[in-house]
Amino acid sequence: MLTNFDLEKIVATSNEWILERTGIRERHIADKGVATSDLGAAAAIKALAQRGLKPAEVEAVIVATVTPDMMFPSCACLIQHRIGANGMWGFDLSAACSSFVYALQAGSQFVATGAHQRVLVVGADVMSSIIDYSDRATCVIFGDGAGAVVLEEADEGLGLIDFLHEVDGSGACSLYMPGGGSLHPPTHETVDKKMHYVHQDGQAVFKYAVRKMAEICDNLLKRNGLTGHDLDIFIPHQANRRIITATAERLGMDLNKVMINIDRYGNTTSATIPLGMQTALEEGRLKKGDLVLLAAVGAGFTVGATLLRWAY
Ligand SMILES: CC(C)(COP(=O)(O)OP(=O)(O)OC[C@H]1O[C@@H](n2cnc3c(N)ncnc32)[C@H](O)[C@@H]1OP(=O)(O)O)[C@@H](O)C(=O)NCCC(=O)NCCS
Repeated sequence: MLTNFDLEKIVATSNEWILERTGIRERHIADKGVATSDLGAAAAIKALAQRGLKPAEVEAVIVATVTPDMMFPSCACLIQHRIGANGMWGFDLSAACSSFVYALQAGSQFVATGAHQRVLVVGADVMSSIIDYSDRATCVIFGDGAGAVVLEEADEGLGLIDFLHEVDGSGACSLYMPGGGSLHPPTHETVDKKMHYVHQDGQAVFKYAVRKMAEICDNLLKRNGLTGHDLDIFIPHQANRRIITATAERLGMDLNKVMINIDRYGNTTSATIPLGMQTALEEGRLKKGDLVLLAAVGAGFTVGATLLRWAY
């Protein structure tokens, strides 16, 4: 656990500033040597147990992440092996903070077409592995975490209803990790220049996120003949409390119908939405038949929203 008070001892910041500007109180940090596949495998095992399923009963896994253990093999392979899901196939999907909603749609297509009965979708990130803990503009925001869901055919009237996705690569320079890929392979120079850390123009990302999260939610609701009032719960990506509340306001939603757990986790990138689902279930705020809206904006830029009726 890394609290705002811990961060006060590391960079020039304060609990008040972080709380007021982001809504975050504390975030979880993985122990040294614990990687994304470790968190993802634990989340996968929990999701399977919640459904009373054995790993071999799931045919594919999609792992939403921007912090895979290594460039290859994929976290999907590592998680398949770790949970002992013989015969499973899978892949990683990278769309920054929108990774989970994109993976949800990708996975659901296999179920909808009848290609697979069950697909596991894992959202996992060890953001602490790519954060510069001397940069107060980024280190206060991010945390580590994982969550997972099992996709299977839902009863009539339940399950995924619709989605809207959009990417805008003109935003690539606002939030990125320049080093370590094919453009800037690792060298002493890239390390000295701190290119293996998250670089962010906070204000540019904030403005885009506030505008696009509201816009995509509004468009998705409208084309389904719905408004924010029809929703039972809104589970948004947790990047900044102010982005969430601005979106809720635009949708005309009461905050008591909005899942906000950023205070406890910070921004865990691909894990925020499945962690939000888990929190909602634990707090009794998510029941069979509930109309749920998920939404995310992330680096890329990537934008996505999903409308569904909770199926169990
Ligand atoms: C990063 C973010 C919290 C910064 O909040 P902000 O209100 O925009 O703050 P600004 O960047 O305008 O900075 C305001 C001042 O606070 C300072 N500041 C930045 N981080 C600080 C910190 N951790 N503690 C104290 N002061 C800080 C800045 O240096 C600046 O000081 P100055 O006015 O003397 O130049 C906010 O922009 C944000 O949440 N952006 C979106 C991030 C995001 O969603 N990322 C993930 C995308 S999925």
